[in-house]
Amino acid sequence: MKKIAIFASGEGSNFQTIYSHVQKGDIQGDIVLVVSNNSQCGAVIFASRKGLENLIVNDTLYPNPGTKDKLLLQALIKAEVELICLAGYMKLLPKSIVKEYKDRILNIHPALLPQFGGKGFYGIKVHKAVIAAGAEETGVTVHLVDEEYDHGKIIAQEKIKVRPGDTAEALAERVLKVEHNLYPRVIKAFCKDGVVWGNNQQK
Ligand code: GRF
Repeated sequence: MKKIAIFASGEGSNFQTIYSHVQKGDIQGDIVLVVSNNSQCGAVIFASRKGLENLIVNDTLYPNPGTKDKLLLQALIKAEVELICLAGYMKLLPKSIVKEYKDRILNIHPALLPQFGGKGFYGIKVHKAVIAAGAEETGVTVHLVDEEYDHGKIIAQEKIKVRPGDTAEALAERVLKVEHNLYPRVIKAFCKDGVVWGNNQQK
């Protein structure tokens, strides 16, 4: 059983999907901690409802970045976290955590990285940019996390066709469905074998 921490800032639909795979025993893991910068978000509400341990870390609660980063790392270590899954987490991870958890932090991004990623590419903005660029395909990427937004080694991708007349919202909906399928598969493999899955040649 791998001990998993989920980091989320939004609705938490990926988190909820991961949770249900854990509940079913499909992912051999245990969600031991949920971290967010936003105490009001769907992910935190869900975590509380399910009785999962959650931790809110943001600049309002901890104006000193050193204190904030230290507290977060200590919480992860105390909970004996072995895998961190970012699921719509809007903040950069502190360097100390990237270092401590090297090759054990995953993120999911709603496009085919390295395109349409990086600072400012989040939420509906990603899909708007895909449509504005006239791209014929988009997709989902799961990658390892480093110190830059959407930048670490790509470990799994799935492509999705952009249909003529697609709106960003319609595309977002199709992409999210694929996310809900791909992310649990990658996490399942990590929990089973202890290493990231796929290594699909990019980067
Ligand atoms: C997803 O599109 C994910 O790829 C991105 O943020 C979104 C989170 O959605 N990183 P949700 O909170 O899991 O519903």
